[in-house]
Amino acid sequence: MTDIRPYPLSNLHEASGDHHDALSALLDDDTMYRITSLIDRESFPATGLPSGTWAGARMLEVGAGAGSVAQKMRYLVGETGRVVALDLHPAIEPDGNLDVVRLDLLSDEPLPEGPFHLIHARLTLGHLPPRKAITARLAERLAPGGWLCLEDFRARREHIAVSGEGADVVEEFQRTVGRKVFDAHGTDPGWAPSIHGVLTGLGLTNVDTKTFSSYWGGGNAGARFLTAIHAQTYDKVLAAGMAKERLDRVPEIMADPATLIHGHEVFSVVGQRA
Ligand SMILES: C[S@@+](CC[C@H](N)C(=O)[O-])C[C@H]1O[C@@H](n2cnc3c(N)ncnc32)[C@H](O)[C@@H]1O
Repeated sequence: MTDIRPYPLSNLHEASGDHHDALSALLDDDTMYRITSLIDRESFPATGLPSGTWAGARMLEVGAGAGSVAQKMRYLVGETGRVVALDLHPAIEPDGNLDVVRLDLLSDEPLPEGPFHLIHARLTLGHLPPRKAITARLAERLAPGGWLCLEDFRARREHIAVSGEGADVVEEFQRTVGRKVFDAHGTDPGWAPSIHGVLTGLGLTNVDTKTFSSYWGGGNAGARFLTAIHAQTYDKVLAAGMAKERLDRVPEIMADPATLIHGHEVFSVVGQRA
């Protein structure tokens, strides 16, 4: 493999819109529940925000993609707050209380100034090898009392079949794309379970990890996500040795109502600056 730049997908790919739509449908409810639940914590007043509301807060969405989370943050912070959406290739436009920053997290370019009451990154740092250093740089941008929320997949690559005759084909795809494409481009499958320790090690307090996952199949959001990954990695998975006749069947199998597989587990980790 000659192209070894981290993150083997691209927001410039034609399947990127489907990819981001599926991620939004699959994960945004849990993400927003997680973020809004923080205002119920005894430690929330440390943010300095009035009466346990995110109204007026400054939030940074890292690896914003098409911006579904950033758009929802805008409602939380209201007109007096500010959301900054950061990405290598942002697929979202600035608007009202939303700023958009094009920035390569692998570069030395300084992060947006902040300070931020909430910094959130989902399915982004796991792909980028200097993930611990980037996490430390993000933590430096927190306001006193501000929260860092990192969410990443612990990819499931074995024993994923729940039902459906084609599930073994999907399992081979998941194993091949996971090991030979994502891991080969620097994705760390051990990152998600290690985030808790990284945030604690940075001196953040009230560190808390929750995990969640769902069945993917029958054309649901998980199935559409996997199908968009298939479209973006097709050539690489073929080159890695998966037989074309099996690889070609993945979208049709994932759309089949009989197919169900275990989706990847999400680790959602929060920590607060003292
Ligand atoms: C898997 S997508 C996740 C998008 C969104 N956070 C979500 O969960 O729906 C990863 C995002 O990270 C961005 N990204 C990848 N490498 C990056 C880099 N070096 N600097 C900044 N953003 C990057 C991609 O452009 C993409 O939008």
